[in-house]
Amino acid sequence: MSRLDSMMRRLAAQRDGLNWAARQIAGQRGEVLDLGLGNGRTYDHLREILPDRRIWVIDRVLQCHPSCVPPKSDYLEGEAEPMLNRLADLGARIILAHYDFGFGVKDQDVAEAARLSPLIARVMLPGAVIVSGQPLAGFQQVAGPGGIARDRYLFYRT
Ligand SMILES: C[S@@+](CC[C@H](N)C(=O)[O-])C[C@H]1O[C@@H](n2cnc3c(N)ncnc32)[C@H](O)[C@@H]1O
Repeated sequence: MSRLDSMMRRLAAQRDGLNWAARQIAGQRGEVLDLGLGNGRTYDHLREILPDRRIWVIDRVLQCHPSCVPPKSDYLEGEAEPMLNRLADLGARIILAHYDFGFGVKDQDVAEAARLSPLIARVMLPGAVIVSGQPLAGFQQVAGPGGIARDRYLFYRT
């Protein structure tokens, strides 16, 4: 598969996965967390499909499209570990998280996701949904929407 095809499949899986997760949490209280603002694409999508939810965002650097800058009150700029601890201390109650950290080096990305998993768990509500580009540890993996290969995007329940 060409890198172009691979990227298109990944972006489609992200979008379909987030749409699926938004339906799963309908009627449940809780906030949303986007781990990895990057260009702001997934943040922009989340705020479009979940306009009434508070959406927390963590990234070590603000480098998104100008139209996707989150409100200061919801953006935690810094390394994931201290920012997740700060989020827990702030009392955030997350019903939907999207994990999109990564360097593009598979071994390192997988190791980081495993290391951060217990910190993510601290802010999640019971019965919450996690949509992730990397395998996480300590959550129950569930089938996401049809048509997404299990190794392309992953879905978890807390
Ligand atoms: C793949 S990009 C996110 C793309 C974004 N979701 C989008 O749709 O545009 C990954 C982002 O995660 C951030 N990141 C990666 N590891 C991090 C870490 N340990 N702590 C904080 N930010 C991190 C990077 O700075 C980068 O902006």
